[in-house]
Amino acid sequence: MKLILDTANLEDIRYFNTYYPIVGVTTNPTILSREGGDIVAHLHEIRKIIGNKELHIQVTETDYDAMVKEAKAIVKAFGNKETVCVKIPATDVGLRATKALAEEGYRITVTAVLSAGQALLAANAGAAYVAPYVSRLENIGADGVGTVAEIQEIFDAAGTDTQILAASFKTAREVLDVALTGAGAATVSADVMKRLLAHTTTDTSIAGFAADWEKAFGKKTLGSML
Ligand code: G3P
Repeated sequence: MKLILDTANLEDIRYFNTYYPIVGVTTNPTILSREGGDIVAHLHEIRKIIGNKELHIQVTETDYDAMVKEAKAIVKAFGNKETVCVKIPATDVGLRATKALAEEGYRITVTAVLSAGQALLAANAGAAYVAPYVSRLENIGADGVGTVAEIQEIFDAAGTDTQILAASFKTAREVLDVALTGAGAATVSADVMKRLLAHTTTDTSIAGFAADWEKAFGKKTLGSML
């Protein structure tokens, strides 16, 4: 399962793009509102940091013609049809825009997906990704991971090219449970991404290796002896 970073924070993007095997960055209007300022310059800066990796940017227009126009402008401004995925909400207007844009070769991430029905419609409209919101489902007593599993089963049965880009995670466990469904991708916050790597026993193991090595060979590294 591919991992994408769900943030617009430049420091986090620099860090995770350097150290973690992420394949892109996702944003949404809420995430961008946290950064404020010149948001166009900010998005250009994100592009500069991640190079040709995927950058997902959401439309803000709600009317069909304006949404399609905005989607094309977003792609032109921040990359190309391969490197920019336009996020479009799972609404009737959104489905129409997805279909029209997908027919022209744009990659659309249908977002705010809360049901398998929405995912099926998004896939039939030609979406590259559908983004089911795992924690938001869990928060209302629904089965977030189960919904992702159901969507994946539907996609597998139909042999669709549309991939799941699971989103809205609050725990590392949710990410792992979604990975077990066979979902193609997940977008994860900086916090949850860190929790996938952190382990105190890893830290104590590494400290033990270093102490034992130093006792036997002093400050020299193995490389310096070769
Ligand atoms: O990218 C949007 C999605 O991840 C929403 O996450 O944490 O606001 O539910 P959250």
